[in-house]
Amino acid sequence: MKLPLWTGISGFITVGLPLLQGVHASNTLSRRAMAVHESRTGIPTHYAREGPPHPETLVDFRIALHSIDRSGLERALYDVSVPGSPLYGKHLSTEEVKSYTSASPHSLAAVIEWLAEYGITDVQLESTVHDYLTFSAPVHTANNLFDTDFHSFVHIPSGKRAIRTLQYSIPRDLASHINVIHPTTSFDLAKPLSISVSYGKRSSESSILNSSCADTITPQCLQDLYDIPATPATQLPNRIAVPGMIEYWAQYADLEAFLERLRPDMPSNTTFSVEAIDGGTNPQGPEYAGYEANLDIQYTVGMATGVNTTFISIGPNNTDGAAIGFLDIVEYLYNMTDPPQVMSMSYGYEEWWLTPSQAQQICDVYMALGARGVSLIFGSGDGGVSGAERNDTCTEFLPAFPGGCPYITSVGGTYSINPELSTNFSSGGFSGYFARPSYQEQAVAPFLENLGDTYSGLFNASGRGFPDIAAQSHNVEIITGGETVYINGTSCSGPIFASMVALVNDRLIAAGKPVLGFLNPL
Ligand SMILES: *[C@@H]1O[C@H](CO)[C@@H](O)[C@H](O)[C@H]1NC(C)=O
Ligand SMILES: *[C@@H]1O[C@H](CO)[C@@H](O)[C@H](O)[C@H]1NC(C)=O
Ligand SMILES: *[C@@H]1O[C@H](CO)[C@@H](O)[C@H](O)[C@H]1NC(C)=O
Ligand SMILES: *[C@@H]1O[C@H](CO)[C@@H](O)[C@H](O)[C@H]1NC(C)=O
Ligand SMILES: *[C@@H]1O[C@H](CO)[C@@H](O)[C@H](O)[C@H]1NC(C)=O
Ligand SMILES: *[C@@H]1O[C@H](CO)[C@@H](O)[C@H](O)[C@H]1NC(C)=O
Ligand SMILES: *[C@@H]1O[C@H](CO)[C@@H](O)[C@H](O)[C@H]1NC(C)=O
Ligand SMILES: *[C@@H]1O[C@H](CO)[C@@H](O)[C@H](O)[C@H]1NC(C)=O
Ligand SMILES: *[C@@H]1O[C@H](CO)[C@@H](O)[C@H](O)[C@H]1NC(C)=O
Repeated sequence: MKLPLWTGISGFITVGLPLLQGVHASNTLSRRAMAVHESRTGIPTHYAREGPPHPETLVDFRIALHSIDRSGLERALYDVSVPGSPLYGKHLSTEEVKSYTSASPHSLAAVIEWLAEYGITDVQLESTVHDYLTFSAPVHTANNLFDTDFHSFVHIPSGKRAIRTLQYSIPRDLASHINVIHPTTSFDLAKPLSISVSYGKRSSESSILNSSCADTITPQCLQDLYDIPATPATQLPNRIAVPGMIEYWAQYADLEAFLERLRPDMPSNTTFSVEAIDGGTNPQGPEYAGYEANLDIQYTVGMATGVNTTFISIGPNNTDGAAIGFLDIVEYLYNMTDPPQVMSMSYGYEEWWLTPSQAQQICDVYMALGARGVSLIFGSGDGGVSGAERNDTCTEFLPAFPGGCPYITSVGGTYSINPELSTNFSSGGFSGYFARPSYQEQAVAPFLENLGDTYSGLFNASGRGFPDIAAQSHNVEIITGGETVYINGTSCSGPIFASMVALVNDRLIAAGKPVLGFLNPL
């Protein structure tokens, strides 16, 4: 699963890149003043440039338009999420969110007019959280339109080809209307990391249930340690969504064995429902059992007692440009009239695997879901300060994604009790893309002051700090493929904490109060 992309110019490049600065002389008279919109310094690792595609090759483009009022949505998110605010808990409907995130009619008209100047008139409006204009154009037209030279690139491990460029421009006066254009400088992301660090087996006979959490972590010891009630939730509309991807599937038989062994007070036939996007499936049988999805399901069904849990299998046929399912899953939830109130996701990236605009686009959908009242909970990553996974050659601290996005709750890992300590693999640090939000000023400013010059230069001190909270993440007992195994990783602490949130939501709903939604200000 280690596919480091974006590591700069790869060894396969033999020819220097033509620099595409400013305007081609032949076009200066007819064209508008252009400005570079996005560029990247090199070809991602594992890709090689093959040369220009045939000029008549049709490319399907998608222009993401700026929201009419992005900062208005951010204010609305904080209004409904900051305790004490008069609007606290008054979460927004899809339509209300859309009134901030849709493009302005002026943006639509301006971009459509520009495209028409190049004979592109068959343009569709695609509307999810954000608005997109889609159209097909031959490479030679696209080269003129974006003042660039598209190339064919090949992803060496898979042989998959992609038409991309390293830099493109748009008319200067359209910069305030256009967010990003795909496909241009974003190459497909590598597979996300499943963020369980490691697992070990032990014969189940030798593991005696010990309610102290001192030896192994089980639902019952967590209930004692964190004062989590074992009484079943009662509110049917309360739901928790557990996405699964990269061929991790949740097993019914393993859940049943887990409940029988570790939650004997629950009906062992308590189960989960399954939904699928992007061609996802959920095949059953020991040969399909993997630790990540079983861990995620066993520590939601087995901790959030009685809460309706839905496993959402994200298949390989993603439709979100280069984000391989990460946008699809949250757009799927956003589109629901009554989305699940909690999502627990144990997958992530190194932040630098994403371009800043990709990271921003996904993070903005998290903002929209937060405004709708969904708590988005992610394990922080398992590489310590060196990234989402261990990187022994790290020369600077690498933040993880989406931990750096200010609108999600990132859960780090602890071990031991009395005192409970941070594990060295628990990812944390400071985003290189997202600035520090005001809700963490009071915690981060003193932290940085204490730190002084230690590690200065290795991280961006003005970035969003993460994780937000932490929970047990060593020797967490699960059953997978019929065997008892013990997991270390923030993939454990994420679902454990998400379950607590779902149980609090159950009590809030029962009391006729709004659910927690975006948690961090609280
Ligand atoms: C998990 O961490 C514990 C230390 O708390 C260690 O003893 C164990 O070997 C680790 N397990 C794996 C599989 O790395
Ligand atoms: C649980 O483990 C701790 C530490 O190993 C030990 O002190 C305690 O007696 C054990 N409790 C039970 C019920 O076995
Ligand atoms: C679980 O088992 C109980 C008793 O055996 C039964 O009444 C109940 O309907 C079962 N529930 C499901 C969801 O199958
Ligand atoms: C996913 O895409 C592949 C290749 O296009 C196709 O063969 C497969 O049927 C699709 N799967 C689903 C479940 O849609
Ligand atoms: C859980 O929620 C899903 C989706 O809303 C629904 O289809 C399912 O019937 C629910 N399960 C239970 C046991 O209520
Ligand atoms: C959103 O929901 C509508 C109606 O339920 C459906 O037609 C549409 O395909 C959905 N869009 C996405 C992106 O899921
Ligand atoms: C490890 O970190 C360095 C930066 O400190 C980076 O250049 C390198 O690609 C990373 N390796 C992996 C496998 O992510
Ligand atoms: C954490 O510490 C253990 C034991 O000292 C070491 O083997 C492991 O590599 C460390 N992990 C990270 C992510 O630094
Ligand atoms: C540090 O983070 C801030 C806020 O996200 C950003 O504006 C700035 O460009 C970053 N600086 C560096 C050197 O990356």
